[in-house]
Amino acid sequence: MNEKTMMLQYQKPMFENKIFIDKTIIITGGGTGLGRSMAKYFLTLGANVVIASRKLEVLENTVNELYQETGVKALALACDVRNYKEVEDVIHQTIAKYGAVDALVNNAAGNFISPTERLSHKAIDIVVDIVLKGTYNFTLALGKHWIDSKNKGCMLNIVTTYAWTGSSFVVPSSMAKAGVLALTRSLAVEWAKYGIRINAIAPGPFPTEGAWTRLFPEEVSSKLNLKERIPLGRFGHHQELANLAAYLLSDFAAYVNGEVVTIDGGEWLNGAGEFNHLNELSSEEWDNIEKKVRGKS
Ligand code: HXC
Ligand code: NAP
Repeated sequence: MNEKTMMLQYQKPMFENKIFIDKTIIITGGGTGLGRSMAKYFLTLGANVVIASRKLEVLENTVNELYQETGVKALALACDVRNYKEVEDVIHQTIAKYGAVDALVNNAAGNFISPTERLSHKAIDIVVDIVLKGTYNFTLALGKHWIDSKNKGCMLNIVTTYAWTGSSFVVPSSMAKAGVLALTRSLAVEWAKYGIRINAIAPGPFPTEGAWTRLFPEEVSSKLNLKERIPLGRFGHHQELANLAAYLLSDFAAYVNGEVVTIDGGEWLNGAGEFNHLNELSSEEWDNIEKKVRGKS
């Protein structure tokens, strides 16, 4: 097998045992992209999976496709995460079907690239509301339920690395993801006494139609040289993110709480370190530099 046809280790499912038997997991935005990939993996690990987003038709197609791929049926529920009543309905319908909710992945998001001064206030609202309000709506509704019913659940929030660095041209998303990160760290401490764990994943670029069409049109991707910004020289593979999510939601991570795990091939640190962009210097140039620097001592 050559490297092209060989499945690399990180592209493979990490857990072989069905670690999520009898566990019910809700994934917001689970009909597409990374949410779909997590849904697929969790189904194979024995979970009851509920995928919730605005477009029921998209969700139902995904349920059918995942059934073909895994032999297990997920449950599709229409829900706009900005609407608290709809969020509560998803929780109630999940409990009615599966008896309980054990875990939540706050994955739904809205985003697009634009200079901030071009945005209307509604454009800012829409992104902030999906990302931040959507996350705190689900977190609050499910947290209240878990505390009242003494369930010890686990939450996972999908943020991005610019949640702490900020980023030009995606300011609404940056503000909202920063809020989600603060929510993660705050509630991880406050609700630990109820046995609730809350963590986050900060992915770098993982190709999805949703992100690529809205953030990396040709004019942007040609300027950014995306892969060159990533020290490991490649994009993320969906399975490696699903592996990390499964670990963080599993009992193997029972002592991991309030953590944000970056999975970006070193991208954000590359942008941050003062001398990180010196790879272009040749050996001769380094010889000259050494001579000059030593000459100073
Ligand atoms: C400027 C824009 C705009 C754009 C929409 N608007 N697109 N303004 N530039 N490109 C404005 C509209 O004019 C309107 O304001 C307001 O935003 C709402 O737009 P609608 O089209 O009515 O909203 P809606 O149909 O509800 O769609 C929501 C959406 C859309 C967020 C705009 O993109 C969406 O459905 N996204 C969901 C999926 C998604 O975004 N996935 C990517 C996640 S990737 P006015 O004032 O005119 O009414 C991600 C990765 C981050 O987060 C990190 C990568 C490395
Ligand atoms: P995606 O496929 O576009 O997923 C976003 C999902 O959110 C869609 O399924 C969408 O479904 C749902 N959604 C949007 N608005 C909603 C609302 N109001 N209520 C309920 N659901 C809503 O994009 P993705 O790349 O997989 O992104 C998934 C997550 O990873 C996001 O949190 C994103 O910020 C994060 N992330 C992605 C990358 C990347 O490189 N892909 C990098 C860093 C972080 P509907 O349209 O049906 O509502």
